[in-house]
Amino acid sequence: DARGPHPMSSTVSPPWSPALALSGASYSAAELSPEGDQVFLLEQRELPGVERYVTLGTAAEVAEGIRAMVVRGAPAIGIAAAYGMALAARAAQTEDAEGYLAAMRQAGAILDAARPTAVNLSWAVRRALALAASHAHQGGAERAEAMAALGRAIHRDDVEACRAMGRLGAAHMPDEGAVLTHCNAGALATGGYGTALGVIRAAIEAGKRIRVLADETRPYLQGARLTAWELQKDGVNVEVLADSMAGWLMQRGEIKAVVVGADRIARNGDVANKIGTYAVACLAKHHGIPFYVAAPWSTVDLATPDGSAIPIEERSSEEVAVIGGKRMMPEGVRARHPAFDVTPAALVTAIFTERGAAAPGEIARLAG
Ligand code: MRU
Repeated sequence: DARGPHPMSSTVSPPWSPALALSGASYSAAELSPEGDQVFLLEQRELPGVERYVTLGTAAEVAEGIRAMVVRGAPAIGIAAAYGMALAARAAQTEDAEGYLAAMRQAGAILDAARPTAVNLSWAVRRALALAASHAHQGGAERAEAMAALGRAIHRDDVEACRAMGRLGAAHMPDEGAVLTHCNAGALATGGYGTALGVIRAAIEAGKRIRVLADETRPYLQGARLTAWELQKDGVNVEVLADSMAGWLMQRGEIKAVVVGADRIARNGDVANKIGTYAVACLAKHHGIPFYVAAPWSTVDLATPDGSAIPIEERSSEEVAVIGGKRMMPEGVRARHPAFDVTPAALVTAIFTERGAAAPGEIARLAG
């Protein structure tokens, strides 16, 4: 079913984790229940019209929620996967060490396969599997509790990382004027606060008079539906651009800087991000406008030498062909749908992470 899982829907807010207080938002992309037996995902496919959470009870359901993009955004899918691993640990409480490890490996494989490009997903699964290996001989309840604690720590650390890169990046934002962003790299795409939108939020909190231009970001419309939704909630001045409009506004001198998130940053500083990012980066270069990337260290993949080795997800033709239930092209014609592209390091002015800011070619130096 292209609509994804059939979870119980919930109109009440989930029980919030402490990470939410850090984020300052009234919503969260992913939460784990205090008992560790349910995952709540904000149903992002229904935003901005409907704000509701779906309730999931197994790692396989969480994987399907990630695949179907109920939850999306690199750090947010990593957090959701970690919470999915917590569900798997709970389900395997009565298993002996061997059975537990087999169950965790199976859950990890299903979650990891949900989407290929954002490295945060496999990063979170790897962390969960390392914990599983280290505590497999403990009691089932203890293991489940530790796995839930890991998920919550990954969530909280991500919000802290967003806050830190926000403070750093804010200094690079103009004192006033329009900043362009592409896709949604905000609270909805992270544990809260956001990467690119975290930089913008921090700059505004520091008194800069910034307005935001949000590319609508076809075909999934993360910019129009999600970035506009969360910035409006914060009272930030935001306008949406169709994806074809940025060049003209740059030529007219209206855009002072660009800031985007990332799904994977290779060792040489090449950046995979939402399809269309590369075109924006080329335009920014041509017009002499700084192009910044903000991402947590969990998005940096030093094992991938350069952008050519990053797997780029191809999604269904239908997601491009059909808008709001209406087919926009003749039956029988297929649409292309690469969901991400790679922006070469040479087009990136600087990368902001919680470990510091770096020129893209210098990113490996932040490994410490
Ligand atoms: O397909 P999506 O919506 O998961 O893609 C998300 C993006 O490309 C974001 O810009 C990226 O994950 C950065 S999120 C902080």
